[in-house]
Amino acid sequence: MIFLKGGNSGIGKETAVDLARRGARVIIACRNVKKAEEAVKEIQRRSSSSNVIYKHLELSDQGSVRRFAEEFIREEPRLDYLINNAGELISREKSFKSFKSIVCSDSSPYNQ
Ligand SMILES: NC(=O)c1ccc[n+]([C@@H]2O[C@H](COP(=O)([O-])OP(=O)(O)OC[C@H]3O[C@@H](n4cnc5c(N)ncnc54)[C@H](OP(=O)(O)O)[C@@H]3O)[C@@H](O)[C@H]2O)c1
Repeated sequence: MIFLKGGNSGIGKETAVDLARRGARVIIACRNVKKAEEAVKEIQRRSSSSNVIYKHLELSDQGSVRRFAEEFIREEPRLDYLINNAGELISREKSFKSFKSIVCSDSSPYNQ
């Protein structure tokens, strides 16, 4: 089982296609539900795998992160790989529920 932060676009989506094609169960986690649902269909079609799902996650909101983690632990028996793809250098949002002004990606080169 592979949990991929992001995955509804860009590098994350291409990674999800490749991993699903190789037989992995892939969970993409991001904010935009519509984009994610469309991405899941595309990833499933391109990989010929139905073992790809979406879960909502807003990384700048600690409440969302905790809800996600609780649901994940409840529903998934294992986690083999975590891919920290999602994020951005500087958010355009003016405020967050828990953080202000800057959200750095886990994997961003700017966050090293
Ligand atoms: N593209 C490049 O040339 C390049 C070069 C070096 C490093 N990177 C790094 O590689 C990663 C992916 O790049 P990309 O170009 O593929 O980006 P992208 O197409 O903009 O995709 C970003 C993904 O992250 C998700 N995301 C962003 N902020 C989030 C948040 N606060 N909570 C949950 N999900 C969030 C987005 O979901 P939503 O649509 O739901 O927001 C989307 O799925 C980034 O960390 C980027 O800094 C990219």
